[in-house]
Amino acid sequence: MKRNWFLAALAFFLSLTAVILLSSNPLASAPGKFASSPSLRSLIGNRPFHIATAVKEKPLLYDPMYGQVLAREFNTIMPENEFKFENVHPERDKYDFSTTDRLITFARTNGMHVRGHTLVWFHALPRWLLEGNFSRDELIAILEDHVKTVVRHYRGQVYAWDVVNEVLNADGSYRDTLWLRAIGPDYIDMAFRWAHEADPKALLFLNDYGEGLNAKSDNLYSLLHDLVSRSVPINGIGFQMHVGFLSSDNPQEVAANIKRIGDLGLEVAFTETDIPIAKLPGKTKAEKLAAQAKLYGELLQVCLDAPNCHTFGMWGFTDRYSWIKKFQGQDNAPLIFDAQYRPKPAHQAMVEVLQKWRRGD
Ligand code: G3I
Repeated sequence: MKRNWFLAALAFFLSLTAVILLSSNPLASAPGKFASSPSLRSLIGNRPFHIATAVKEKPLLYDPMYGQVLAREFNTIMPENEFKFENVHPERDKYDFSTTDRLITFARTNGMHVRGHTLVWFHALPRWLLEGNFSRDELIAILEDHVKTVVRHYRGQVYAWDVVNEVLNADGSYRDTLWLRAIGPDYIDMAFRWAHEADPKALLFLNDYGEGLNAKSDNLYSLLHDLVSRSVPINGIGFQMHVGFLSSDNPQEVAANIKRIGDLGLEVAFTETDIPIAKLPGKTKAEKLAAQAKLYGELLQVCLDAPNCHTFGMWGFTDRYSWIKKFQGQDNAPLIFDAQYRPKPAHQAMVEVLQKWRRGD
């Protein structure tokens, strides 16, 4: 009996803490140690440019510094996992928007935009879907309901969606997924049309890697060309930019690719940039961090220079919570703040690029 009371009191205390943390304005208590370095967000000001980061809900609830730095530095958030199918659509007839709604509230409270990631992917699918043995017609109906329900729920609140994620293999062939096997490549057209129907004002992106000039980016380019020529409602492509995995580390090639995509009338958004240091040049960690900073600065510059690039997004901002840490150890330090939220040379490089941009150099 005593134990039940204790658990109830603990649950109440935790939810109260969560509500207070989510509704407080982190800008009001931004840590003094950042005072000397301008924030990325302040350098963007009111210009129509998204400086974006992936966010996770848990640290937002339990780690106050996370929310403070997030709201100080960025004007756009991209929930890292919370919009994925398994999280918002856990049962066939049940959607759960509680977590994503809280993130939207956080963004609104802090004057931030929200980019939705992602509606159709082969990963992060719920068991009921993977094991359902559905026919083609059933899967089309399930996907239509999913896309329309999620996009409609956030109509006017999510300004851009990664509608389909990672659709091609490295050699340019279609990735073998549940959706491709059951529906065929038409699932891509369908998803864009349903999303557009549900929110005609939202910007719709295909999100993938293939940022430089290679077989995969050539095939992505052909796919984009086909989608445009069939009048599929697509606004652009998200470049994941997980440098060190399958993404490009060549800013000149990335710029050339952005240019040819612009000639199709499409936008490019950097969506998941991170740069692990392990494979970067340099013997010491300081040298590697300098190489990382240089590349962050160059990639940001490439986006700012392109008339069809208005988003520079990173897959998180502190090494404390990067997905890469989980797979490869902390030394990879892929983001622009270290695990103690100290700005790294990469942050300074981005500050300098943005200062130059503001001066019009
Ligand atoms: O939240 C659950 C937790 O409750 C559970 O106890 C635990 C047990 O494994 O899993 C937790 O969920 C994990 C989730 O990350 C949150 O940490 C999932 O297992 C794990 O699969 C998931 O990984 C994410 C991955 O996508 C798959 O969805 C990564 O955080 C996320 O960074 C990664 O992001 C992808 C982009 O969506 C697409 N591009 C590549 C990028 C990196 O892989």
